[in-house]
Amino acid sequence: RAHPTDPAATAAVREEPALTRDATPRRYLMCAPAHFEVTYSINPWMDPSKPVDLPLANTQWEDLRDRYRALGHTVELLVPRPDLPDMVFAANGATVIDGRVLGALFAYPERFAEAGAHREWFRANGFTEIHEPAHVNEGEGDFAVTASYLLAGRGFRSSPLSHDEAQEFFGRPVIGLDLVDPRYYHLDTALCVLDDAADEIMYYPGAFSPGSRSVLARLFPDALLAEEADAAMLGLNAVSDGRHVLLPQAAVGLLDPLRDRGFEPVPMDLGELLKGGGSVKCCTQELRA
Ligand code: ARG
Repeated sequence: RAHPTDPAATAAVREEPALTRDATPRRYLMCAPAHFEVTYSINPWMDPSKPVDLPLANTQWEDLRDRYRALGHTVELLVPRPDLPDMVFAANGATVIDGRVLGALFAYPERFAEAGAHREWFRANGFTEIHEPAHVNEGEGDFAVTASYLLAGRGFRSSPLSHDEAQEFFGRPVIGLDLVDPRYYHLDTALCVLDDAADEIMYYPGAFSPGSRSVLARLFPDALLAEEADAAMLGLNAVSDGRHVLLPQAAVGLLDPLRDRGFEPVPMDLGELLKGGGSVKCCTQELRA
């Protein structure tokens, strides 16, 4: 029997080294929920008769912002406007790749003015290539960036015509995906990019049409497939820096599958913002240099 300090013995009992993942520093744009409210309903999560605990919403949002900073990321801030209660969902205001900004055009009048607030921020912060869109697109709500593609949701918010517009502006192949379940009205409620350097994603198949499911299976055969119970907690509304995956804490079924792939899940409580139909990703727009 080998002595316990014998390197051969140690090697035999040591667990297989976990796949290591590298985080890359990110720059995010967020907007505090200072005026968050559910006064209208434009998705099935929103019930104006359910009160929102505003101080709690703010604390939860601050935890998210602080967590990004603690992980070494940069968080830029938009000034919240009292007339725009959904402005906290900053992901919807634009899509930025290679420093080029595709502005948003919102589907509902309640959110129209957010697009201008975003464009103003970009102009004031040194972005020069800003495209004002002709067709409805709700920013990163419906656009997801992988290494090879721009995945683009349609069916509830963004117009299919916005897909061509985005492809032309960014010069990246757009893959149109049909969303069919109103609970998953934005692409980012049903799909999350885990590693944007390697086309690795997780998604909930039930949110997509049969044809779109086949497209996803063909392009991402190794994707992590989420169960309905986790999708229903908006578990796919997550943000990954390549290593840490910040996700709604109720989506407990995603924790082990993420760990098995070498990711470090970071559960967050954004329960008050869920009343508006959004969570981690909705609150976070990524500014890709
Ligand atoms: N209440 C907002 C809406 O319905 C929520 C937006 C959530 N954002 C997102 N990226 N899915 O427009």
